[in-house]
Amino acid sequence: MSTRPYAIDQLISAKAIAARVEGLAREIGDFYAGTDKLVVVGLLRGSFVFIADLVRELDLPVEVDFIEVSSYGNATESSREVRIMKDLRGEIEGRDVLLVEDIVDTGYTLRHVLDILDTRHPRRIEVCALLDKPSRREVDVKARWIGFEIPDKFVVGYGIDYAQRDRNLPHIGSVRFTD
Ligand code: IMP
Ligand code: MG
Repeated sequence: MSTRPYAIDQLISAKAIAARVEGLAREIGDFYAGTDKLVVVGLLRGSFVFIADLVRELDLPVEVDFIEVSSYGNATESSREVRIMKDLRGEIEGRDVLLVEDIVDTGYTLRHVLDILDTRHPRRIEVCALLDKPSRREVDVKARWIGFEIPDKFVVGYGIDYAQRDRNLPHIGSVRFTD
């Protein structure tokens, strides 16, 4: 996919992310203390770096699974429909599920994925999102844990892409078009 020329301005440093992930893991660990085996579900692909760091900070017995949904639309606009591209491998019925998402933007993706997972009757589903853009919300959905609230900017890095690029950046930056 071709993109307009752009530069990336650092928004959240790798160090700040690491410190926040540690804090989140502590809160999540306290919340789930006593839970048998938590199923941590990463929403692909944007959450893959975050979930890898988060589960390594979690002092809990966890299972890790992934789900991938596709949204229709162009690279920077979130669409309102989702389709399962890759489903969970494991069963979640009666289990505690922590859904890990990269960004909650309009909220449509999270709403659809929660609706899909709810039909499988987990014991409880909670959400941990690395980033939240509350000013963009169109659907009433909330993550219990949020890494950082950010303004309405298009961001990349730490797993998050622009047209499949920049997922490998260790920090989070905002895209600034230079043309
Ligand atoms: P929502 O359905 O509008 O909440 O969109 C959520 C999804 O859109 C996220 O999981 C991301 O994949 C994508 N997205 C939203 N904002 C950004 C961004 O700033 N950079 C990259 N992807 C984004
Ligand atoms: Mg995503």
